[in-house]
Formats: sequence, structure tokens, C-alpha cells
Amino acid sequence: MTIRSSYRAVVVKAPGQLELVERPIPKPSHGQVRIRVEACGVCHSDSATVERDAAEGAPPRVPGHEVVGRIEALGDGVSGWNIGQRVGVGFLAGEDRSCPSCRQGDIVNCENPVITGMTTDGGYAEIMLAEARGLVRVPDDLDAAEAAPLLCAGLTTFNALRNSGARAGDVVAIHGLGGLGHLAVQFANRMGFYTVAIARGADKSELALQLGAHRYLDAKVENVAEVLRGLGGAKVVLGTAPTGKGMSETVPGLAPRGKLVVVAVPGEPIELNAIDLVFGGRAVVGALTGTVADNEQALAFARLQNIRPLIETFPLEQAQAAYDRMMRADVRFRAVLLMNPDHAGAAV
Ligand SMILES: NC(=O)c1ccc[n+]([C@@H]2O[C@H](COP(=O)([O-])OP(=O)(O)OC[C@H]3O[C@@H](n4cnc5c(N)ncnc54)[C@H](OP(=O)(O)O)[C@@H]3O)[C@@H](O)[C@H]2O)c1
Ligand SMILES: [Zn+2]
Repeated sequence: MTIRSSYRAVVVKAPGQLELVERPIPKPSHGQVRIRVEACGVCHSDSATVERDAAEGAPPRVPGHEVVGRIEALGDGVSGWNIGQRVGVGFLAGEDRSCPSCRQGDIVNCENPVITGMTTDGGYAEIMLAEARGLVRVPDDLDAAEAAPLLCAGLTTFNALRNSGARAGDVVAIHGLGGLGHLAVQFANRMGFYTVAIARGADKSELALQLGAHRYLDAKVENVAEVLRGLGGAKVVLGTAPTGKGMSETVPGLAPRGKLVVVAVPGEPIELNAIDLVFGGRAVVGALTGTVADNEQALAFARLQNIRPLIETFPLEQAQAAYDRMMRADVRFRAVLLMNPDHAGAAV
């Protein structure tokens, strides 16, 4: 076996354009580990990195924050982690116990945020450096490509649903059936909710029902709010489709004191009619991914309930195609980059 001193990574060359490059293998700094990446999911949020001009003078960024791999080197000051250990890295991977916000579980307001694939290089690469404090333990028996989407798409929807206030038997609607939405439907079903999947077109109906939806709602031909009201109103709508208009159309379908929980980040505003909010005390709230502890709980719950993403895998050199197809919503349902397709799988 030849030992290479460089590795392949995919960087943002220009807005919307990715490029495969060769880079020297870096040493992990204090508190960091070096990961040999096995798989990385392609999340819609990667567009925040890919569609943006690189900062003046900064090296081109490597996107990707649904990373699964194995530790292959430890930086100084790292304890509790071993070489060869299976780990994952999600979007917010810099939780810092010395930061007052992080100590309260509020990593969003961290004083020194590490946002994988945005403030640091991410997982569209064979190698990645990560803060040890942001690592997620990934069980060895999970397939790398199937575990990767759980680290952001899974975590985000699991956390948003379990914190939504909905209780077993409540009507919960998942708006959008992409990377996040198709996992959300599975989580909602296993959490005991009457699960409505809202998407566009008849072609997603069968898959939505297979994933656990009790009702498929085709937003192209049905009136979303009317159907939801016919079901007694949704206690929670989880907005995973990046469309302000689509999300706002669900609000009149909420039950009194129901909630639209927004996780998608559309380019346009979400317009609201105050009458829908005031009469019935409905609410619109946002939810952002979760902590390392949340992520390990999301993985454990997914494992317990056999919740698995439906994926299409691509070799690293096809990252552009994977990204473009994700942006066109042409993937069923998560694109995952495999660094070494011949050796992918669970065990070493
Ligand atoms: N809050 C967080 O922490 C967090 C974490 C991860 C991602 N996100 C955000 O969540 C969003 C979804 O990410 P993703 O990776 O799941 O994206 P994705 O895989 O591209 O899925 C988005 C889905 O929305 C559907 N959609 C678009 N417009 C629609 C409409 N009007 N009605 C119904 N469905 C519609 C698309 O399908 P069709 O076009 O075929 O209808 C597509 O399947 C993105 O905005 C992403 O940035 C947020
Ligand atoms: Zn993501």
C-alpha cells in the first residue's frame, strides 16, 4: 500500500462551481483530530457556502457537514478519543464548555462558533480536521453512507419534532419531502404522531406512505390549509421546504395553539396573516440543528426505530453532479458522497 502525502478535496471555485483539488495532508492542531472521511451527505444548507463568493484572500472552502469517518491522528490535548474510532461531524461542531452560551446548550450564540463547511473546511474530502469537542460517536455497525445524513438532516428534524410540544396522537405535518423531510416523516411516525407529508406532485405519494406518512398531501392539487383543517388542524407543521410562500400557506391549517416550526431557510420572507396567529394563538418558531448530545440521541433513536435515509451515492469526483441534482430536488432523497466506494460499509 502506498502512503500518500496528499488527499483529494472538493472546493468552491466560484459561486455554484466545485472543483476537485489535491492538498497536502495537514497535522491536527491542539484540540483537533484528523478524520479519514468515509461519507459526507450533501445538504441544501451547503448552498450557503457553494453559492457564495469566497472571502477576500481566504483559501477556497470545502463544503459538507454530514460527515462520517474514522479518526486517524490526534492533536495535542485531545483525550477520550482513539485512533480508528468511528466519528461524525455535524453543522455546529464547536460546542465549547468554557463558553457561557454553549454551557446552556445555546451553541447558536457560541462566542467562537465552528460551523462545519462554512467557518472551517468540511467533509467533501478524503481528510478533514475537526475539533474533538464537536465529535459525535457513530456506532461501528451503522453504514457510513446511511449514517451521514442523520448528522444534519436527521438531527435537525428529530430535535425540532421532539421539542415541538406535539404529543402522541397529534396531527403533525411535514412540509417538503427532500433530505430533511423524508427523515422527518419517519421520525414523526415513530414518535407516535398522525403524520401528514406535504409535497408537490403525485410521484412522491407512494414513497411518503412507505416512509410512514398516514396521509400524503399533494400541494399542487390540494388546498393545504383546508386538508389540514379537515384533519382537525395540525398541532405542528415542520417546514423543511425552502419556500416562504409554501410555508405561509400551511399556517391557516394549524390547530388553535398550533405551531409552524421553521427549519428551512428560503431566500424570500414568510408572509403571515395576523388573523391566523391572533385568533387561535398560533405561533411560528425557528429551530436550528442541535448539539453533540442531541446528535448522539438522534443516532440512537434512529437505530432503535430502524430509521434510515433513502440515499443516492456519488464518488467524490462527482460532487458537482450530486450538488446540482440536490439543488434541483432531483435526488431520492439524500445525495451522499463516498470517498472510497470500494471500501465503503460498516465494519473495518
Ligand atoms: N434549521 C436547520 O438547522 C437546518 C439544517 C439543515 C438544513 N436546513 C435547511 O432546510 C431546508 C431543506 O434542506 P434539505 O437538505 O432537505 O433540502 P432538499 O433535499 O433540497 O429538499 C427540499 C425539498 O423541498 C421541496 N419543495 C420546494 N418547494 C416546495 C413547495 N413549494 N412545496 C412543497 N415542497 C417543496 C423540494 O421538492 P420539489 O421541488 O420536488 O417540490 C425538495 O424535495 C434548506 O433550506 C436547508 O438550508 C436547515
Ligand atoms: Zn445540513
